[in-house]
Amino acid sequence: MNKVLVLHGPNLNLLGTREPEIYGHTTLDNINNMLKEQAEKAHIGIDFFQTNHEGIIVDRIQQSAGYDYIILNAAAFTHYSVAIRDAIAGVAVPVIEVHLSNIHKREEFRHNSVIAPVAEGQISGLGVGSYQAALYYIITKLNGVVNNEK
Ligand code: DQA
Repeated sequence: MNKVLVLHGPNLNLLGTREPEIYGHTTLDNINNMLKEQAEKAHIGIDFFQTNHEGIIVDRIQQSAGYDYIILNAAAFTHYSVAIRDAIAGVAVPVIEVHLSNIHKREEFRHNSVIAPVAEGQISGLGVGSYQAALYYIITKLNGVVNNEK
C-alpha cells in the first residue's frame, strides 16, 4: 500500500483560532480528517504529525523511509530553515510544499521559500485546498495518471 506523511510545522496546531482572517476557521483535526477520507477512498495510507520544533521536523524527514511522498507545511520555517531544506535534499522521499495562505501576496519576508528548490512542487493560497490538491496530485501520480504516464 502506498503511504503519505503529512507534516505540519509550528503554530498550525492553533488553526481554527489563529488569525482566522488569514487561515480560516478550519482546525488541524478538520484538515487531517478531510485528508484521511480522501486517502481512504484512494486506498492510500496516510499519517499525520505536527510539531512546533525545527529539529523534530528534521528527524521526521530523516525517518521517512517507507513513505512515497511527504506533504509538508513547514509554516514559518519555510522561509529560513536550511536544516529542513537539507533534510529534504538528503532523503529520497519527494516532498510537496503546501501553504494555506498565498505566501507570495503576503509580507515580503514570506515570499521566499528555502524549501521550494528541493520540493517537487509548491501549492500556496488555496486554504485546505492546498493540502487536498497536493494529495490529489500524489494519488494520481502514484496511479500513473499524471503526465499521461498510463
Ligand atoms: C503558512 C505561511 C507561513 O508564512 C506562516 O509562517 C505559517 C503558515 C501557511 O500555511 O499559509 O505559519 O505556512
